[in-house]
Amino acid sequence: MTASSKPGTSHTTPTPAALTEHKVPSNSAGFRPWPEDPRPVDVTLRRITAETVYEVCGLSETLSGDQRKRVVDNGTSIAQAHFADAAWFRAIYHGDEPVGFLMLDLAMDSGQPGVSLWRFMIAGPHQGRGYGRRAIEIVAAHLKARGTTALYVSYLPGPGSAAGFYRSLGFRPTGRIVDGETEAVLAW
Ligand SMILES: CC(C)(COP(=O)(O)OP(=O)(O)OC[C@H]1O[C@@H](n2cnc3c(N)ncnc32)[C@H](O)[C@@H]1OP(=O)(O)O)[C@@H](O)C(=O)NCCC(=O)NCCS
Repeated sequence: MTASSKPGTSHTTPTPAALTEHKVPSNSAGFRPWPEDPRPVDVTLRRITAETVYEVCGLSETLSGDQRKRVVDNGTSIAQAHFADAAWFRAIYHGDEPVGFLMLDLAMDSGQPGVSLWRFMIAGPHQGRGYGRRAIEIVAAHLKARGTTALYVSYLPGPGSAAGFYRSLGFRPTGRIVDGETEAVLAW
């Protein structure tokens, strides 16, 4: 989840062989559309298009300097996704306005099944309004529906860390430190 060029945890850094073995769906043909948000917070996850990609990339510029060190810029993530078969990404919308970005790594290690939240951000002006929480809820609901039992994340501790955010959503530390990041998991 940091500004490194690879997923933050070992289970998010699959080898090409592992991807083949697990037959992970690709970006274009992977997940079915997410369920519509039934709650008042009007958050949806949408495909990024030629018309929206520039705006979604620009969301990274709204983060504070500290926050920007904690998550790779959206443009870089989108570029990486096109070279990672197991990446799945969407823009986060509030109503018709793009407010964030997330990317999953759908690959699983056989010993640690689960999906990894590879990149996640809500634009600065839109933070603190429950959009991040709702986006994770939508992801978790969809993963549950497809039979996945856990969502992993890793984050840097310290000032500006998203640790409290993940804790408030029910993520619990796994006890593993991966590439200097604290790993946590939301299991159901
Ligand atoms: C972390 C981030 C995604 C949170 O998104 P958000 O939309 O602002 O969060 P929400 O408004 O949905 O907050 C949900 C809950 O988490 C809490 N929370 C949010 N950020 C928090 C933080 N940094 N520390 C502690 N608690 C936090 C909120 O108080 C809220 O609690 P509540 O539901 O009990 O009221 C956003 O701050 C962000 O994009 N940060 C910069 C990028 C980043 O660090 N990404 C994660 C990389 S691992």
